[in-house]
Amino acid sequence: METAHPHFSLTPQPTSPGMIVRAEGCELITSDGRRILDAVGGAAVNNVGHGRREVADAVAEAMRQLDYVVPLWPTPNRVALGEYLVDEWLPADFEHVFFAGGGSEANDTAVRLARMYHVSRGDEQRYKVIGRVPSYHGSTLATLAIGGHMNRRDGFDPLLAEHPKVPWDNADALAAAIEAADPSTVAAFIAEPVIGASGPALTPGLDYWARVSEVCREYGVLMISDEVMTGFGRTGRRWGFEHDDWEPDIVVAAKAITGGYTPLSMVSASNQVLEPIIADGNGVMFFTYSGHDASCAGALAVLRILADEQLVERAATVGASMLAKLQAAVGRSSAVVEVRGRGLMLGVELNGLASADVVAAALERDVWIYPGGSGPAVNDGLLFAPPLVVSDEQVDQIVAVTAAAIDEVAAGVVSA
Ligand SMILES: Cc1ncc(COP(=O)(O)O)c(C=O)c1O
Repeated sequence: METAHPHFSLTPQPTSPGMIVRAEGCELITSDGRRILDAVGGAAVNNVGHGRREVADAVAEAMRQLDYVVPLWPTPNRVALGEYLVDEWLPADFEHVFFAGGGSEANDTAVRLARMYHVSRGDEQRYKVIGRVPSYHGSTLATLAIGGHMNRRDGFDPLLAEHPKVPWDNADALAAAIEAADPSTVAAFIAEPVIGASGPALTPGLDYWARVSEVCREYGVLMISDEVMTGFGRTGRRWGFEHDDWEPDIVVAAKAITGGYTPLSMVSASNQVLEPIIADGNGVMFFTYSGHDASCAGALAVLRILADEQLVERAATVGASMLAKLQAAVGRSSAVVEVRGRGLMLGVELNGLASADVVAAALERDVWIYPGGSGPAVNDGLLFAPPLVVSDEQVDQIVAVTAAAIDEVAAGVVSA
């Protein structure tokens, strides 16, 4: 355990590589000059690479003009970002955006929005939000309750409202769960198009989303796409849902909206969802830091780089090549169940190894990979989501280190 900074965290954290003082490109640099290759953009956050001066300059300039303005009122970057998202990113019938601080706040807001939609239409009894196992939607009490990350829920059960859960890949189980819950009480279904930390890069089969869509429409259940990890190009398309034949009613995004340069998340909904809410004079309460102008300036600068450098397209091509390289290097190992993913959101499912051990072994070799897994029902796995500017040589280094780390841990497990 880290002892050098005893007051840095509330409870002890896993060993760190040292004090991170600078970052550039795909590398994090420690106070003693060690360079860590960031194979997961922090926590699937950074997309445009670290150390982009133009983003820092945009944020600094915004802060020179404004500090805090109540989220009820327009500010230049707040307004510009909303317009840019509606014009360039969101589906055609999504014309309004709500900002929050991070993914948990945004998913929490999506739950309230879904509830508000039904209340505004006089459907007061609809409140249940069906989630999947595994899944992760955040750590507020509402988002833990709708999520299926068993380790992160552990110990909080008495505080969590009960919402039905379904297996992550079975659309018929969703129909059965809606029936079992009493369809007139179900408000929404929430899912990550490609699963993140709870089951790295789990991606359902071809017909899954079309069938889910059919089921939700049949029962009047709203579909929330949690794009906190998949949004803004990570999977090689603009949104994770764009790979499959469906369109959500509510879209939630965070992380890549600013690449992590500033804290920000967003929720948007189709006009069909918003119209009854607006007609009834309802809405959702803002957070104090909803749409901070400097955060929005950071988002605008990052999204401009994403477009100018065609990084969404790059995620698709580099991701396909990284997937093939990972498959070749570790796909046949007896310590690996599966190599999978879309774009630059890739996962390696481990066979009986603890992801934390493999991550520690990789960090010894100067590569940061995210430890995935969500409890005994699902195998641990490794999550890869490097900045979309990652070079071929860096991909090769990530793949080689992953193979060496898995071999080392597997050898220890066998000999133990
Ligand atoms: C899919 C998904 N949803 C929600 C969250 C929660 O976001 P935050 O940690 O910003 O609250 C995460 C965080 O990793 C996530 O991956």
